[in-house]
Amino acid sequence: MGWKEEFATGIDEIDQQHRLLFDHAEVFRDVLENGGGTFSYKSFLDFLSAFIEIHFGYEEECMHAHRCPCATENKKEHAIFSRHVANEVARYEQEGFDTAKAFALLTRVETWLEDHIGRIDTQLRACVRQQPPEN
Ligand SMILES: [Fe+2]
Ligand SMILES: [Fe+2]
Repeated sequence: MGWKEEFATGIDEIDQQHRLLFDHAEVFRDVLENGGGTFSYKSFLDFLSAFIEIHFGYEEECMHAHRCPCATENKKEHAIFSRHVANEVARYEQEGFDTAKAFALLTRVETWLEDHIGRIDTQLRACVRQQPPEN
């Protein structure tokens, strides 16, 4: 799976960030499927945490600025996803690498991305066209 044109949001910066997450997930899936992960899981988790901090905040501001009707739902789904990742980071710090848990997180990230971008983030496209950003 990867980024596709139908995921375009009308804001290049956001699309670039989405692509980056798809790329990281793809690389990490390769690592896991080849029996790796012990040493790279930490950097995958670090990337996810940084993505959450940078991308979610940026996208929420864009939706707010363009008065996007799904802004609240977007924020809500970001919060649930963030909590899930934070829980896995905490578990990892306590218990260390676990292949099954890493696969579970990765699959959740991939599924969430496709579903969330397709259903929520892409609604930005119409808002960008119809509503110039508020200053
Ligand atoms: Fe979003
Ligand atoms: Fe997004």
